[in-house]
Amino acid sequence: MIAIVVAHSANRVIGRDGELPWRLPADMRRFRELTRGGTVVMGRRTFESLPDAFRPLPERRNLVLSADPGYRPAGAEAFSSLDAALDACERDCFVIGGAVTYRDALPRCERLYATEIDVELDGDAYFPEIDATQWTCVEDGERLVENDLGFAFKTYERSPAL
Ligand SMILES: NC(=O)c1ccc[n+]([C@@H]2O[C@H](COP(=O)([O-])OP(=O)(O)OC[C@H]3O[C@@H](n4cnc5c(N)ncnc54)[C@H](OP(=O)(O)O)[C@@H]3O)[C@@H](O)[C@H]2O)c1
Repeated sequence: MIAIVVAHSANRVIGRDGELPWRLPADMRRFRELTRGGTVVMGRRTFESLPDAFRPLPERRNLVLSADPGYRPAGAEAFSSLDAALDACERDCFVIGGAVTYRDALPRCERLYATEIDVELDGDAYFPEIDATQWTCVEDGERLVENDLGFAFKTYERSPAL
């Protein structure tokens, strides 16, 4: 199963200046619980944005995309195409960003774990709009508040073709 894990604002911002524009410990916990033991697939810029202590992300197989054939991410495996990385995943596979990687992976994903932050924020990296006719919300979590930001955990599954 290929899933996306993403946190985005009401205007779909996911990043600013190469970083997350918020600090939400509950979201980090959910991310860890969802992905631990599985394989995470990410773009080079997201890998390089991880703090030293979490690069590579521990207790997960880390796959990093780069078009540079000489790229050697420490503690992770490099892939030159999204298809090659997804094909290398043995079981639970989580695409964890960033914007370029989400956009390309969305058509191949069956599940979307979203943290929806209910304010508009400034940013320079975005998560694409999802087609409401193609996705069904199967988890609609309660509204939480941390650091003055309201957010909710939602899970979407790709709707069966009609
Ligand atoms: N809110 C969230 O949930 C979340 C999650 C993750 C990241 N982010 C944010 O997203 C931003 C980074 O996103 P981004 O779009 O700039 O970068 P990104 O997707 O993390 O990385 C882009 C790079 O990955 C490589 N790449 C991507 N797709 C590829 C493909 N199909 N084939 C070969 N290489 C490929 C390329 O590396 P080369 O240039 O080496 O060729 C490309 O420049 C940051 O602000 C980060 O904090 C937010």
